[in-house]
Amino acid sequence: MHQHEGVPVPAARRDKVAPVRFAHIVFRTSRKEEMVQWYRTVLEAEPSLHNPFLTFLTFDDEHHRIAIVEMPGLKDKDATIATMDHCAFTYASLGDLLATYQRLRETGIHPYWCINHGPNLSFYYRDPDGNQVELEIDVFETSEQVSDWYAGSDFPDNPIGVKFDPDDLIARFQAGEALEELTRRPKIAPADVPAQLPRD
Ligand SMILES: [Fe+2]
Repeated sequence: MHQHEGVPVPAARRDKVAPVRFAHIVFRTSRKEEMVQWYRTVLEAEPSLHNPFLTFLTFDDEHHRIAIVEMPGLKDKDATIATMDHCAFTYASLGDLLATYQRLRETGIHPYWCINHGPNLSFYYRDPDGNQVELEIDVFETSEQVSDWYAGSDFPDNPIGVKFDPDDLIARFQAGEALEELTRRPKIAPADVPAQLPRD
């Protein structure tokens, strides 16, 4: 079997016992109901369990994708600690992602960063505690195509991405521009390359 460079063989095909899927994320918070409402809104999630201490939320067949646990008196996050940077959720299509951006905008939830990474086109949001949540689409259909893009693009010069204007993208989408054009990461001048991921 030929193995594509940069695409690891799944653990099960290497005869390893490994998880079958990623299960859930748990947040501890002192703003539980605000957090619950935010994740319900953003992810179109519904509670599978809800009490003053703990809420489970799901948007698919998993029992819970998000758990939110009340812990009174927690300090707020700050940008100086080493921690998980963000979690990401993938939509089925650019149309679904743009519709979600517009739906959230109408509820007053706005992204702080709109970026075409190359393999992903992404909107980044902050939840009420400042945790970063990426809503994205896959630009490519296969991991082989993603690896080829990393190998053949200007990724070494710009490992972060190229910012885009969401309203401009929506206008082009509505005008019927080809998906490949809408999602292609443009080349930008070195001076415009983001220096790092946004900090909290
Ligand atoms: Fe990400």
